[in-house]
Amino acid sequence: MKKSSTTKKTAANPKEALPGQPMSTPVVTTSGLLELFTDGIKNMYWAENHLVVALPKMVNAAGSADLQSAFADHLEVTKTHATRLENVFELLGEKIQAKKCDALEGLAMDGEHIIENTDTGSEARDTGLIMAGLKTENFEITSYNGLIQLAGKLGKEDIAEILRQNLADEIEADQLLTSLSEN
Ligand SMILES: [Fe+2]
Ligand SMILES: [Fe+2]
Repeated sequence: MKKSSTTKKTAANPKEALPGQPMSTPVVTTSGLLELFTDGIKNMYWAENHLVVALPKMVNAAGSADLQSAFADHLEVTKTHATRLENVFELLGEKIQAKKCDALEGLAMDGEHIIENTDTGSEARDTGLIMAGLKTENFEITSYNGLIQLAGKLGKEDIAEILRQNLADEIEADQLLTSLSEN
């Protein structure tokens, strides 16, 4: 019942090119998808490496021992995420390369602003840090979900499987931060 796929090439289509003229109807093709995917991996590689630098600041700034260890554990997991992405580059036959992720840079800045604008050991500091952490995890979850879908479209199931491992860790971190925010 997909009308577009059956009518797209008929002469009745008003967007059909006139004889002798090039076809002007935009056609959705799969070209560019691999480039989009590779760029997305480069962005996430930048993001994970940026978080390896940002998370120690969160560890030091957190007041509660539980929050400190949540950030410290996630720092170790984040290093693994970067390593897994290096495996993805290898499977893609691409050289390992980071491409700046503006969104993640902004989210990390949010965390720094929380530290600047709250008192050491205050409930406001820890609450703000949890909120900043949750925003970051949500960003990573959404990004990996999109990349997994794209990997599937490209028939790269081995890569999708690696990305699912990162996704599972982000979901776990999100759940832990959510439970800390409720306590
Ligand atoms: Fe991550
Ligand atoms: Fe994360």
